[in-house]
Amino acid sequence: MSYQVTFQPSGHVISAEADESLLESAIQAGLMVPYGCRDGACGACKATLNSGEVLLDQFSPTALTPQDVAAGMTLLCRAHPTSDLVLTVRNVQRAGDIPIKKLPCRVQRLERLAPDVMRLEVKLPATEQFRFLAGQYVDFLIAGGKRRSFSIANAPEGATTLEFHVRLIEGGEFTGHVFGGMKEKEILRFEGPLGSFFLREDSDAPIVLLAGGTGFAPIKGLVEHAIEAGISRPMTLYWGARNRAGLYLADLADSWSHALPRFKFVPVLSDSTEEDAWSGRTGLVHQAVMADLPDLSGYQVYACGAPPMIDAARQEFTTRCGLAEDAFFADAFTYSTDSAA
Ligand SMILES: Cc1cc2nc3c(=O)[nH]c(=O)nc-3n(C[C@H](O)[C@H](O)[C@H](O)COP(=O)(O)OP(=O)(O)OC[C@H]3O[C@@H](n4cnc5c(N)ncnc54)[C@H](O)[C@@H]3O)c2cc1C
Ligand code: FES
Repeated sequence: MSYQVTFQPSGHVISAEADESLLESAIQAGLMVPYGCRDGACGACKATLNSGEVLLDQFSPTALTPQDVAAGMTLLCRAHPTSDLVLTVRNVQRAGDIPIKKLPCRVQRLERLAPDVMRLEVKLPATEQFRFLAGQYVDFLIAGGKRRSFSIANAPEGATTLEFHVRLIEGGEFTGHVFGGMKEKEILRFEGPLGSFFLREDSDAPIVLLAGGTGFAPIKGLVEHAIEAGISRPMTLYWGARNRAGLYLADLADSWSHALPRFKFVPVLSDSTEEDAWSGRTGLVHQAVMADLPDLSGYQVYACGAPPMIDAARQEFTTRCGLAEDAFFADAFTYSTDSAA
């Protein structure tokens, strides 16, 4: 059974099947709507239901709170239409013509960047074109029909490989394998590109890049793309980690100011010890942004990392620093529901 779904304020209208999520229907119809985990965990696909009825699959109460439900909100990745719908969703646009593909790839390089961070580089198939936007992610398809999401850490220009920064998760099925048995030349399968975390290039707004831990990965992709594309907007990267080892490519981030004259790098440690011999900024990384830039009106923020950091940054930047809600772009590194212990 299919229903008509209207997105406001953009005015896009699509047909949506009851047995598919609204997100799946939107993507199939060639629309780019905001989303992250596709799993009811991050809240990036939150939308207001102005009229009509939906059925919701299981979701995390942190992604859609009881207050959100009371305010008529829903999650595009969990909602199935049971009538025609009118929804308010910010930042809806035509997706362009980048197809989502399932492809094999070969492990080309494994490099330990920090005790708990591995650089995983995979070779793309020579016979199949894989296109993506800097900042997007892929799902590795693992045994038992499970998937694990990882952000692409390189720029798309001329890419024949994909780079990922994988943080080891205690007891983690995929990351345990990356740090344990994975060998060069191993064949993996992935689906992608996914996600709406990419640089909005139709704007001249100054940019704050906010990374927590391996949230640096997609930010690296964005910056390397900006260098390739000659984008000269002012950009300040705030990268937060617990200790110095967590800033595992700090020299690289430092070097970007040579390629991008208006680029600045601010590393921030939250739990530095004497061993770190750290004289730089300390505390929570999003608070460092607010201390330096108390007025974020007119800025765009691109944030990536653990869900609490993303939630705090979104909340405080928009309510206390005047950041426009549709100028905050984020990927929260949630984990898939099939991995919940
Ligand atoms: C859009 C997106 C992009 C992502 N990009 C990256 C990336 O570039 N680099 C990266 O390191 N991670 C990234 N993640 C997070 C990553 O997908 C998860 O950590 C993943 O579940 C790890 O898989 P695993 O099989 O090793 O662990 P699982 O088998 O999934 O989990 C094992 C146990 O650890 C818990 N767990 C899993 N992940 C986490 C976590 N992150 N924090 C706390 N507890 C956890 C689970 O609940 C479970 O109990 C991303 C997530 C999303 C949604
Ligand atoms: S909650 Fe829907 S994309 Fe994350």
